Amino acid sequence: MGKIILTGDRPTGRLHVGHYVGSLRRRVELQDSGEFEQIFIMIADAQALTDNAENPEKIRSNVVEVALDYLSVGLDPEKITILIQSRIPELTELTQYYSNLVTVSRLQRNPTVKSEIQMRNFETSIPVGFFCYPISQAADITAFKATTVPVGEDQEPMIEQTREIVRKFNSVYGKTLVEPEILLPDNKACMRLPGTDGKAKMSKSLGNCIYLSEEPEDIRKKVMSMFTDPDHLKVSDPGKIEGNTVFTYLDAFCRTEYFEEFLPEYAGLDELKAHYQRGGLGDVKVKKFLNNCLQAELAPIRTRRLEYQKDIPYVYEILKKGSEKAEEVAAKTLADVKKAMKIDYFEDPELISSQQARYNG
Ligand code: TRP
Repeated sequence: MGKIILTGDRPTGRLHVGHYVGSLRRRVELQDSGEFEQIFIMIADAQALTDNAENPEKIRSNVVEVALDYLSVGLDPEKITILIQSRIPELTELTQYYSNLVTVSRLQRNPTVKSEIQMRNFETSIPVGFFCYPISQAADITAFKATTVPVGEDQEPMIEQTREIVRKFNSVYGKTLVEPEILLPDNKACMRLPGTDGKAKMSKSLGNCIYLSEEPEDIRKKVMSMFTDPDHLKVSDPGKIEGNTVFTYLDAFCRTEYFEEFLPEYAGLDELKAHYQRGGLGDVKVKKFLNNCLQAELAPIRTRRLEYQKDIPYVYEILKKGSEKAEEVAAKTLADVKKAMKIDYFEDPELISSQQARYNG
């Protein structure tokens, strides 16, 4: 059997450069690698609602934003399937059955759920749906018989929990589900790109994100005000690379061609870093270079987005078709699951006659 990808995002806002280097760029490479039989990209609206129940308009409007972001980075609906989670009711049914195989204490131990509960100050008022979303995520992954889940490291506990559910299901009901593998970003800077202020997490409320759809002048302003080494006061001072956001971003974005184009006096990033560490290289010069790299990287994305923005009905059509196609696949898995669980009453031709036979002695 060929390899199948499933991954996705919660539609809670526009996607930013952290999403780009952490997952979107890789997805396009995977799409073009020809290594995968099928690729499903899910807009996880139902999961987004688990902690936004009172904010449905936010999720509704961001579904199309995320779809535009996908299309603008070069995900191609001819090659991959983009779907909306809530359009696949089979996922909810699978979640229900899997939930019998998961304990409350196991969910409480899930590190991602734990930290999200803290971040959201849920304390004792955790919505049940939110608490159980790792089970629903296992349904997302297994419904498509995904072998490969390309995600950031924050999603590692989710994939681990999915693998446990698969093993448990298969051992109780017989081999039915596929155990997925996680595919992490290969570049460390891309694993968790910090905000422009150097804070670990990029978030809309902190105003420290660069969005994929950001205007060139706003990108420039955000780069020029980026956090660097606070002890690097004079150009001649030696500077630190570690924890220096500008260099972390260069690790994530810079390509050799960009040196030839924008900073030919350096052969590459190692040389630039060495100069900064020695002293004699100013922050402004490095920031200007990073700005050039980012502008070069994001310009084609912005152009493509503008094209798709002219035809929003077409974007919704892509989502509708993708969701329909995805539902067919999920329905097949659900049928397998029901058969394994012996709740396929009307699909099993033997059942009725064997039940009759019990009474015929
Ligand atoms: N939890 C993911 C996020 O917060 C989104 C998601 C939902 C997902 N279902 C998925 C990711 C299945 C990978 C596979 O971004």
